Amino acid sequence: MKTVSLFSLLLILASCGTKQSGDADMYEASEMSQLMREMVRFSKKAKANLEQGKPTPKVPEAIWELQTAEGTRDEHLEDPFQAMAVPYLSALRGIERGDSQAYFYSKSIDACKSCHGTYCGGPMAVINTLGLEQHN
Ligand code: HEC
Repeated sequence: MKTVSLFSLLLILASCGTKQSGDADMYEASEMSQLMREMVRFSKKAKANLEQGKPTPKVPEAIWELQTAEGTRDEHLEDPFQAMAVPYLSALRGIERGDSQAYFYSKSIDACKSCHGTYCGGPMAVINTLGLEQHN
């Protein structure tokens, strides 16, 4: 198990969050990487709550800034990125409305998958652990 999570961490680091060119040792997590980590934390809590039949925690304010967060490779300036951020944010608005939270939560995880199918695929290992049991 430990090997598996170390391996997926390496995959994440190899496929996004680092610049292609030689300055990897000067690497600092971009604004977008930090936001993604916040999204993972929120999703984990939301999933745990929903599986216990409880409402999700409030969506952290920072996540609403997804479309302007600066990515390592300026992903935030790209049309496909902007387009794929929309279904994620609208799923979050569904979650915030408070009814059918499990449905909108699952939509939010689908949105992670579709964007990461295009952008860095490494986090897919993490994303695949975020689905709700009844939807798998
Ligand atoms: C609209 C596109 C998009 C959506 C939606 C999206 N991501 Fe990302 N994600 C990215 C991009 C681009 C990066 C690389 C950011 C960078 O390197 O600056 C990234 C990076 C990450 C990382 C690596 C962060 C790090 O430590 O460097 C994780 C983990 C991650 N995303 C998980 C998720 C999860 C979980 C979701 C859904 C809750 C999600 N992503 C939704 C585009 C997206």
